[in-house]
Amino acid sequence: MCKKTAIYPGFFDPVTNGHLSIVSRALKIFDRLIIAILKNPQKNPLFTVDERIYMITQSLKGEKNVEVDTFDGLLVDYAVKKDSNVVIRGLRALSDFEYEFQMALMNRKLNRDIQSIFLMTDYKWFYTSSTIIKEAACFGGDISGLVPKVVNQKLKEKFGYAKKT
Ligand code: PNS
Repeated sequence: MCKKTAIYPGFFDPVTNGHLSIVSRALKIFDRLIIAILKNPQKNPLFTVDERIYMITQSLKGEKNVEVDTFDGLLVDYAVKKDSNVVIRGLRALSDFEYEFQMALMNRKLNRDIQSIFLMTDYKWFYTSSTIIKEAACFGGDISGLVPKVVNQKLKEKFGYAKKT
């Protein structure tokens, strides 16, 4: 049987438990998932691409059907290069919908073969995002339970609340 690969793109700055919930749901449908980090020089991320790859890899705990990769340029072109026609996106509260709808339609215009599939994250992480988690962590807020342990530690290091590992 032909193995089906899906692409899960994003910035993952940093990866959260919400992202990981989408990864495990996607793996129930697809044989293989590629987590694709966009390398966008215009954005000003908190973590370098290498740090983000490290945190995702650590959080996946050796899950062998997931590859962590980076891309630049158009997502649809990257998907074709990776022999996939499926883009996975996570959906949280209603506020995500407009942006996701716009992006899915643009991707569809750029390449009609690529299908966008939306998966709902677990309700526990419905209102969290990398951005809001970073803001809380920046002021020393307790974000345990919202991110994997490795991310919690790295956020503390970044914001000067912990010694470097
Ligand atoms: O983590 P995010 O911000 O939800 O990720 C957005 C991302 C990286 C998936 C999106 O910006 C993207 O796919 N960018 C690649 C450029 C592209 O293909 N743009 C056209 C479709 S909007």
